[in-house]
Amino acid sequence: MSKKRVAVLISGRGSNLQALLDAQQDAYEIVLVISNVPGVEGLKRARDAGVETLVVDHKPFGKDREAFERELDMELGARAIEIVALAGFMRVLTPFFVRAWAGHLVNIHPSLLPKYPGVNTHARALEAGDTEHGATVHLVVEEVDAGEILGQASMPILPGDTPETLAQRLLAVEHALYPECVAKLARQLS
Ligand code: GRF
Repeated sequence: MSKKRVAVLISGRGSNLQALLDAQQDAYEIVLVISNVPGVEGLKRARDAGVETLVVDHKPFGKDREAFERELDMELGARAIEIVALAGFMRVLTPFFVRAWAGHLVNIHPSLLPKYPGVNTHARALEAGDTEHGATVHLVVEEVDAGEILGQASMPILPGDTPETLAQRLLAVEHALYPECVAKLARQLS
């Protein structure tokens, strides 16, 4: 079985990218990292791992989200990418991109979907009085945070937790979950 060629899209810190890079890449291989923001930490992580990096800044495209995505799509296509993993990529994708990559586009979301799609997931879990919180890796579809779930992992919410402590503790959960799920998708696509 040949390894699936993966591109990771980031906008910042890239700790999930790091987890994907550090995991045993027996089913997939990260061959490209694209950031829409120049100079972010995730780009350095990729370079340190010897992975090709690109900055595709959304700003010159103004309000034309699809033109930005056509540029992304062209770069991905030029490198025969088979799976696109969103890892803290802070752009909403249009139907153009989502359809082009349907079944091959994954995201990690910091909640136990279908609970808390969208933003402020940690605060919402606390406000609801939940006793557990977690992360979900899912296929990306046009509806935000609504695609098929590839995997979930949970952790307890402890007395005294704040949105910040939850976010911090959840990161370790995310870092274990995301590589497993990307590997699972890579095997499914083989
Ligand atoms: C993570 O919390 C992830 O769940 C969310 O964005 C954050 C990205 O963090 N989608 P990092 O850039 O991977 O460190």
